[in-house]
Amino acid sequence: MEKKQLDWSNLGFGYMETDARFVSTYKNGSWDDGGIVTDANITLNECAGVFQYAQTIFEGLKAYTTQDGHIVCFRPDLNAARMADSAKRLEMPVFPEDKFVDAVVETVKANAAYVPPFGSGATLYIRPYMMGINPVIGVKPADEYMFRIFVTPVGPYFKGGAKPLTIKVSDFDRAAPHGTGHIKAGLNYAMSLHAIVTAHDEGFAENMYLDPQTRTKVEETGGANFIFITKDGKLVTPKSDSILPSITRRSLVYVAKHYLNIEVEEREVFLDEVKDFAECGLCGTAAVISPVGKIVDHGKEICLASGMDEMGPTTKKLYDTLTGIQMGKMEAPKGWIKTIL
Ligand code: PLP
Ligand code: COI
Repeated sequence: MEKKQLDWSNLGFGYMETDARFVSTYKNGSWDDGGIVTDANITLNECAGVFQYAQTIFEGLKAYTTQDGHIVCFRPDLNAARMADSAKRLEMPVFPEDKFVDAVVETVKANAAYVPPFGSGATLYIRPYMMGINPVIGVKPADEYMFRIFVTPVGPYFKGGAKPLTIKVSDFDRAAPHGTGHIKAGLNYAMSLHAIVTAHDEGFAENMYLDPQTRTKVEETGGANFIFITKDGKLVTPKSDSILPSITRRSLVYVAKHYLNIEVEEREVFLDEVKDFAECGLCGTAAVISPVGKIVDHGKEICLASGMDEMGPTTKKLYDTLTGIQMGKMEAPKGWIKTIL
């Protein structure tokens, strides 16, 4: 397989149409076998459930070229499980979890020429998604669905790569108590667009959302969970029912405890205590770990001790260990790495 001639080291986080994508359709109560197609476009009825009532969910994971030249992906079973949870919450049929993993493998294989080489700093972003496709006009779930996966080679999610970000405490809420903040539904991102455009217009890279009920606790950003490092080197990460259960964050908690001997606290984190942390980072598939140097709360600056020049030392250790595992430089816990080629 010959790689595409791309400027791998200078890719941003963008969409590029590749050769192949996976499609499976749900009709009359069951999923068909599905398979790879070449057409990147979808033609749907004007009244499809996805268009009228936003019945759509998605996932995000990555494929990597390892040091020894294999193509692998990271914990796809957890994306399959999370997508099943998202589907249930939006009254959609579950795409079987084993078939999800097989479909990821098949789609990456069909696009192997787009998997960035080891050491390029780029990865292949994999986007599974599902939507209601038949006409729905009364408010109710669709009867027919399409599950698809496309891939696109990507560089860093935030411009500047590992340079610490400045973010703001948002006046908008991203999730409601007992709402949909814990699932990966398109609707959560639609309603975050005004908040992210506002933050960008004001010069901030992202929003720190607070808990919608009391507005005193740290939740997450629009596309990543938070990690904090205390001055005595503990990892603290917010626990909440209305944030997305990040696979990256769950993996970092394991890596901290079992690889780095770092004490971990998963608990409520109050905005008031953020000034006392030494380091802060955003973690997610797209963000990997992006360090935060400053958080602005209505004009009041909270400056992390790690500063604005580079990632803090503990964040760096977590980053190096996690990416080391993903890229095959370090031994992975059992079941974390799915070899594709
Ligand atoms: N939080 C939100 C709102 C997200 O969109 C994402 C991205 O998937 C994450 C957190 C990080 O989750 P993961 O680490 O599973 O990619
Ligand atoms: C991901 O990290 O996979 C996400 O879905 C985040 C998204 C905002 C790009």
